[in-house]
Order: sequence, then C-alpha cells, then structure tokens
Amino acid sequence: MEPAVVRRPPPPGVPAGPAVTSTVAGWTLHEHALVASTNDTAAALTPWEAVRAERQTAGRGRYQRAWASDAGGLWLSAVVPTGPPEAGWAALPLAAGLAVCEALQALRPGPLRLRWPNDVMVGQRKLAGLLIDQFRPGAAVVGIGVNVANRPASVDPGLAGTAVRLADLVAEVPELSALAAQVLDRLRGVVEVMRTAGFAGLLPRVNAWWQTGVQVEIETAGGRANGAFLGVDSSGRLRVGTPAGTVQELAAHQVVRMRELPSGDC
Ligand code: BTN
Repeated sequence: MEPAVVRRPPPPGVPAGPAVTSTVAGWTLHEHALVASTNDTAAALTPWEAVRAERQTAGRGRYQRAWASDAGGLWLSAVVPTGPPEAGWAALPLAAGLAVCEALQALRPGPLRLRWPNDVMVGQRKLAGLLIDQFRPGAAVVGIGVNVANRPASVDPGLAGTAVRLADLVAEVPELSALAAQVLDRLRGVVEVMRTAGFAGLLPRVNAWWQTGVQVEIETAGGRANGAFLGVDSSGRLRVGTPAGTVQELAAHQVVRMRELPSGDC
C-alpha cells in the first residue's frame, strides 16, 4: 500500500551540479541542468524553496515507478510547510493537484480534469503527475511532473497511448521557467488557504475538477469493490457511491489503489 504522502528517510547527499537561483512568486527557486530526482534534491531544502531541473536521471513516480524525465518537460519540486495529518494536512496531495490543474488551465489546453488523487488528465491521457514525499516532520516535498515538449514515448514506448503533452494541446508552448513560476504561484496560494482555512477552504475548487459519477474499482486492505466516484469531503476523504445506494468515505491511507473502469465495465 502506498499512502498519498510517502514518508521517507532523507536520501544520502545527492550531487546535483550547479544551480541558478532566483526569487519567484514568493519562492527561492534553484534551477539545475541535471539531477537524479528533484524530490531528492529538495529533501535538503527548507520551506518555500523549490528545485527545477531540465532533466532527471532517476525521476520517480508513484508506486515506485520510474518517471520519464527527458528534456522539455517541467520537473519541479517545492518544499511546503505542513502541520499534522489530523489537522487537515493529509489533504495536501489534493490541494497540490488543484494548484497544478489551475496553473495549466490558465494556458487553455482544452478540457482538463483531476483523476484521484492528483493526476492531471485530458480525457484518458495523463498531462501531469504529482509525487509527495515527507522527509522530515513539518515540511513536505511536492514533486510535480508536467509533460510539456518532452517526448515521453521515446523514453518509454508504453506511454504512447497514455501520456499527453502541452505541446499537443496549445499553440504556444510556455517557457519552462515561466510555467514553473505559474505553478509555484498557485501552489503558494493553495498552501496559504490550507494554513488559514484548512482544506475545507479549497473544497469547492477541488471538487470542480473531478469527473464525478465515473465507475471506479477501489482496492483497500479489505479487498476490492466497485462504485461511483463522487469527489472528496471537507477532510479530503474519497466519497464513493456504493451499489447499495449508500456513500462510503475513505481516507487516502485506506485506499491501496483506485482504478477508473471503462464505461460499460461496472
Ligand atoms: C506520478 O504520477 O506517478 C507522479 C510523478 C511525479 C514526477 C515528478 S517530476 C518532479 C519530481 N521529481 C521526481 O522524481 N518525481 C516528481
């Protein structure tokens, strides 16, 4: 089972090469040509610092998958200050997904949606993914990968039918530094709302991005069950309509995996 926020020991010192550092949208941003994983580079940083790399040699996705990270994509990790999960911070992955979705929507790429917990999708294809690591208490590293003008399928042919890039969707592809600034600006905004109003302050914005009603298969420690995805509640719990007509609420840590079912496959 992989929780939405993965607690990890800090990685051993990772050589990342020289960086260009600037102040962007209230963040200190370190931009590198090449790192292993921006999340691992960010492990040594403090809140409101961020790392962007042109390429990653060991980009990480969820479920211990590799993340194709060739040149031309946005590979960004931001360190955010957090509080305890029971104070609402368990919903940070949802808030971060909202920030990325809103930043990308500003580019008018067509119909975006969020797939629980925080994949940014165009139809059935993935435009952006997030990996949130917690290396120490009080801070989380929000890792963000956006396919921009990179070529995911040339790194992994299996991504040909499942990934989409901004370059496939918009006439003018943004500069990666400018896109990083827009994402960081949105991320700072949602984290500030979390700090003042809690996740409940973001709930209508988050729930506006799901494809609700879609049939899903949910795997928990107790087994697998199908239902209709109904969004999340003010604590960030997943809401699922059961075949019996009730609504089941599940905290992220209770869900091993959620899979959307093709229509007609209920
Ligand atoms: C997923 O959907 O599986 C999550 C993908 C997260 C990829 C990003 S790229 C920047 C940051 N550094 C990493 O090693 N992973 C995240």
